[in-house]
Amino acid sequence: MNKIEIKKNIFWVGAVDWNMRSFHGHTYTTKRGTTYNAYLVVDEKIALVDTVYGPFASELIERIREIIPLEKIDYIIANHVETDHSGALPAITKLCPKAKVLGTAKCKEGLWKHYHEDWDFQVVKTGDKLDLGKRTLNFFEAPMIHWPDSMFTYCPEEKLLMPNDAFGQHYATAERFDDETDPCALMEETKKYYANILWPLGGVILKKIEEIQKSGISIDMIAPSHGIIWRKDPAKVLNAYSGWAKNTTQEKVVIAYETMWGATEKMARKILEGLEDAGIKVKLFDIALTDRTEVISEMLDAKGFLFGSSTHDNDMLPNIAGFLEFIKGIRSKNRVGATFGSYGWAGGAQKEIEGIMKEAGIEITQPALTTQYSPDESMLKQCYQWGNEFAAKIVSHS
Ligand code: FEO
Repeated sequence: MNKIEIKKNIFWVGAVDWNMRSFHGHTYTTKRGTTYNAYLVVDEKIALVDTVYGPFASELIERIREIIPLEKIDYIIANHVETDHSGALPAITKLCPKAKVLGTAKCKEGLWKHYHEDWDFQVVKTGDKLDLGKRTLNFFEAPMIHWPDSMFTYCPEEKLLMPNDAFGQHYATAERFDDETDPCALMEETKKYYANILWPLGGVILKKIEEIQKSGISIDMIAPSHGIIWRKDPAKVLNAYSGWAKNTTQEKVVIAYETMWGATEKMARKILEGLEDAGIKVKLFDIALTDRTEVISEMLDAKGFLFGSSTHDNDMLPNIAGFLEFIKGIRSKNRVGATFGSYGWAGGAQKEIEGIMKEAGIEITQPALTTQYSPDESMLKQCYQWGNEFAAKIVSHS
């Protein structure tokens, strides 16, 4: 195994999970796999920052052994309880018995509830420092980025921020740094990660970025716990996060629908034409055929959402129902929307969809558009016009 030195005597000792395709209990499709990043800071004292997902513990141990004997580890920094970062703790603590585990008070509580082990634990909080000899580790509590226990670790002498889940991507690569990998794929995965994991937490993320900027700390490398390390351009990901957290959007609409016999799809395509002819960027997805993770990523910078469904048993179809349940949890801000769809003898889907959109914080800007059975030419003209009207709302709302 090659030693991967990210700074002088600071090593990446994580694992690449090339085959991970479904993360977080199937809430996130990871078509490019993921990585679990851990870092070993070798100084007069030795600190391991985070571990890896349990099934990859032996890989972490092997990487550390290439650098130092494990029993020399003095500290294990647990930035986050979630099992993709703490899963190897039970294995590694057995091999470095003198190591003290450091984390927030919530981390201590969470680790106990996950593993029920009596580790030598030191609670740290924002402002606390750990002296390693030539270098120090400073801690910033970062609750809800991504769990209440989360924390960032910063090494001022190296201008190195290790923010755990923040600024990461589910992106398995042989390369470790932003200047070595495909920049388009990197930003695509960074955006998808933010949209699917961090979107509801934008307010706390923005405050944390402002707090870090106000603290005056200098950052020339961001080493997250998933994916690529930002060494060429850490400001790129900081700026992208600021924009997303401020709910900055484009004049763009995502149309997501489910159709029973194609009538709702005909409506969707005509609505799309009305939007496009008005100069609005549009993405259209049949939600029964599309990966939800990709759709949510497209929604992150869209001002408007149009959701459609045929009516079945006075309600929407099941795939769009599952999708909207997920959207409700995102609690998006500063977004507008409307609903459409066909019905047979009794409607109902649009009322249900509008209810969920309101709960999700989406402003409904125009009445639902419905048609009985399949739309005729006159109805298709109405769909076009309805799309056109929504385009005007997007422009006026921007
Ligand atoms: Fe990568 Fe919240 O765990």
